[in-house]
Amino acid sequence: MTRSSGPCDLRGLVALVTGAGGGANGGLGMAIARELARAGAQIAVHDFVAEVAEATASELRQLGFVAEAFSADITDSREADQLVEQVIERFGKIDILVNNAEYRSAAYRPDQIPTEEWQRSVALNVHAPFYLSRAVVRDMRLRKFGRIVNVSNIAAIRASILHGVPYVTTKEALYGFTRHLATEVAQHGITVNAILPGFVVTPELRAQWPEERFERLAPTIPARRAGTAEEIASLVVYLASREAGYLTGAAIPIDGAVSIVPGGRTDPENAFV
Ligand SMILES: NC(=O)c1ccc[n+]([C@@H]2O[C@H](COP(=O)([O-])OP(=O)(O)OC[C@H]3O[C@@H](n4cnc5c(N)ncnc54)[C@H](O)[C@@H]3O)[C@@H](O)[C@H]2O)c1
Repeated sequence: MTRSSGPCDLRGLVALVTGAGGGANGGLGMAIARELARAGAQIAVHDFVAEVAEATASELRQLGFVAEAFSADITDSREADQLVEQVIERFGKIDILVNNAEYRSAAYRPDQIPTEEWQRSVALNVHAPFYLSRAVVRDMRLRKFGRIVNVSNIAAIRASILHGVPYVTTKEALYGFTRHLATEVAQHGITVNAILPGFVVTPELRAQWPEERFERLAPTIPARRAGTAEEIASLVVYLASREAGYLTGAAIPIDGAVSIVPGGRTDPENAFV
């Protein structure tokens, strides 16, 4: 059911969410797509593989929302441009772009990082948001309205024990991209913000980590728990809303206050970033 009119009513808006596939097993992108749909937006669900994107789109349609699947390798600038063209062809416009897809490198010693790991991280975490933002801004400028939300990580302002140099560098680059782009497009009614989630439980993490690890990590967070994908998605809904027109160029941690407490972690078994 779509929410009734009120704050964050996204009816009449079209959202493209990258890396939002997977349906019930999807990650943050899936939750973001679902919450945007619940607020009334029509959703272009993107993922790398068509069936993965379709899993989310069909689930959203079953819930009564308007959603369509699109697949593309967004690290390729032509495919990214084509994706934007296809979504505009289908829905007539793009009001909201959520750059959520990521490549999360494993932790390598800095002197042993394979070149491909570095290149894949930069390609998906930095190049792709740039290609897509460039393409949607052309359309948003004409209509004097747009919302771009870049999904970064508190690693952008701290460090990442689990994912190392490529992840931190690219998530921080996304933060810099956000701030600068915001200043260039603000006069056209377009906002650009980054969200910096901390420890968030997703189905993938649930499958990978034993319960004991979640229990061990919870006390290290001032909120004493991990965040939920829905909590992250609600922030995206607000940033995507018409009401959020004066909030731009921000990088908002959403992390149970973990990024502001002192103390560092160095042991991967006791880290969640
Ligand atoms: N899960 C967390 O705890 C957490 C914490 C902080 C930030 N984040 C951020 O949230 C976002 C989503 O995280 P997640 O854990 O749900 O990730 P995820 O791995 O579940 O989702 C990433 C998506 O990107 C897609 N993708 C990969 N390569 C692609 C390509 N070349 N072209 C197109 N799509 C491609 C994948 O298919 C996948 O659907 C990421 O940007 C991540 O950095 C997550």
